[in-house]
Amino acid sequence: MNTAPGAPTQDQLKALVAQAALQYVERGALVGVGTGSTVNFFIDALATIKDQILGAVSSSVASTERLRALGISVFDANEVQHLPVYIDGADEIDGHGYMVKGGGAALTREKIVAALADRFVCIADASKLVDVLGAFPLPVEVIPMAGARIVRQFAALGGHAVLRLKNGQPLVTDNGQHILDVSGLQIRDPLAFEAQVSQWPGVVTVGVFAFQRAQVCLLGTPQGVKTLNF
Ligand code: 5RP
Repeated sequence: MNTAPGAPTQDQLKALVAQAALQYVERGALVGVGTGSTVNFFIDALATIKDQILGAVSSSVASTERLRALGISVFDANEVQHLPVYIDGADEIDGHGYMVKGGGAALTREKIVAALADRFVCIADASKLVDVLGAFPLPVEVIPMAGARIVRQFAALGGHAVLRLKNGQPLVTDNGQHILDVSGLQIRDPLAFEAQVSQWPGVVTVGVFAFQRAQVCLLGTPQGVKTLNF
């Protein structure tokens, strides 16, 4: 993101929306917590009201560790019937609240926790708002033995899928699976796209969040926090 002199940095915008998200946290209840650098600011903000909440349901090992280190109780998703709110970042969000997520490789657990929540509040800096999803390479968690076939299926849609690496080796998710990052897509019908790719054999989770879209986006702009309701 290009930043004009004197304008807030991307990290300052992330901290701003993270702080603003506290207003959506129901006191005395559990809160769903996403993953990523914006969420890390949110977890730090959440720690300031930790005595007013029951605890959190977390979407990754990394967020769980950060929550616990700050003294916030973490509950297993299986112990919970529903959450008032789930708060998470996004790699892209459009004008309908549809998102691309998974840049931090946590998309599967993020979708699971989001599905438990009555409301998804997305926290993001303004660089994440797009007209059409797909410029950010779409993360897809896959079962390794299905990887090559799924690469060919994306090629048939005009996409170029590459295996995500970490330290020269395939990245292994919290669920023991791999991530493909797919470039070259323009996702004009996110609901249809998510439904289609989700049923390909070996796809664990596609990083389009259309069925689990955001109802609210707190967007960090140089003019302050802009609230988008979808
Ligand atoms: C992790 C995610 C994150 O929400 C997404 O990658 C945005 O991360 P950041 O806040 O670091 O920009 O989906 O799997």
